[in-house]
This record gives sequence, structure tokens and C-alpha cells, in this order.
Amino acid sequence: MPPAMEFAVESHSARETKAWGRRLGSLLKGGEILGLIGDLGAGKTCFVKGLARGLSLDPDRILSPTFTMIQEHRGRLMLYHIDLYRLETTRLDELGLREYLFSDGVAAVEWFERLQEAAQLEFLSIEIGYTGADSRSIRFSSSSDRYHALIEQLRTHL
Ligand SMILES: Nc1ncnc2c1ncn2[C@@H]1O[C@H](COP(=O)(O)OP(=O)(O)OP(=O)(O)O)[C@@H](O)[C@H]1O
Ligand SMILES: [Mg+2]
Repeated sequence: MPPAMEFAVESHSARETKAWGRRLGSLLKGGEILGLIGDLGAGKTCFVKGLARGLSLDPDRILSPTFTMIQEHRGRLMLYHIDLYRLETTRLDELGLREYLFSDGVAAVEWFERLQEAAQLEFLSIEIGYTGADSRSIRFSSSSDRYHALIEQLRTHL
């Protein structure tokens, strides 16, 4: 496995976090797995709203999937918005996850670390952490080659 590559930014508002999501969304080609990691209220869903825009989707359709763990949206690409919060732990073979994660669309998974096979998958990790009331650190990283180009593009799109 190639060494991990990472790129971290500081966001000072929900709007800025959405802008990063949008930027990433506009670079996606389909088939990507985005693993969103961060505490309750860190901004994972906020990021996915931006992602939706980058996929030519209405961000208002992105909700915190409290009751539905998987929401499908048809934009420039299919967006599978998955939230594993209500599960302590899960496996690829549950909830039909395999089908969503290995598709032509984009799988954006909140609480990705709850997936038992997470470490074995090739995915773009997006870790969001609190750094203040309205500020967050957003860290994009991957140890998989296929996401290195994406991280590089994010870095140079400043
Ligand atoms: N810089 C910021 N980036 C993102 N969200 C921010 C920021 N500053 C303030 N916020 C606020 O933090 C909250 C983030 O909520 P959001 O639902 O996106 O979190 P989450 O990580 O999806 O939580 P959960 O684990 O409950 O799903 C929103 O109310 C948003 O307005
Ligand atoms: Mg959320």
C-alpha cells in the first residue's frame, strides 16, 4: 500500500465546510467511497450538503438520516448518503451496504468507522473535528492511490 497522503484545512463556518464539500463533489467521477468521521454535530451532514451541490443536487434534500439510514439521490451521479450512527457496528454484508459502496455512484458514509471492514477498504477519509464554536478542522486523507489524485486536486483548487 502506498503511504498515506493527507491535506488538512480549517473551516470557520458551516458555509465554508459546505464549500469544501462542493469542491470535492465537483471533482468526483463516480465509484468513490467517502468516509466521514467526527463527533456528533461536527459537520458531517453539513459537508454532505455541499457535496450535493457539487453533484448538481439540491442541498436541501440532504437530511440527517435519523430514521432512514440510507438515502439515495440522483444528481450528476447517484449519491448514497449513509449514516451508521444508530448502529454500534455493522458489516458490509448488512443493509446491502456492499451494493452502495461498490457502485458507479458516490457513497458518503457518516460514522464510517462503525463499519467493521473500514480499514480494509480503499476510501477517502474526511475527518471533521471541533476547533472552536464555529470552527472545524477538515482532514482529507487516504492510503489508497486512487484517492491521492483527488487530494492533490483539492489542494491545488484553493
Ligand atoms: N465550521 C463549521 N462547519 C460545519 N458545521 C458548523 C461549523 N460551524 C458551526 N457549524 C454547525 O455545526 C452543526 C453541524 O451539524 P451536522 O448535522 O452537520 O453534524 P454531523 O457531524 O452530521 O452530526 P451527527 O453526528 O449528529 O450526524 C450545524 O448546526 C452547523 O451549522
Ligand atoms: Mg450527520
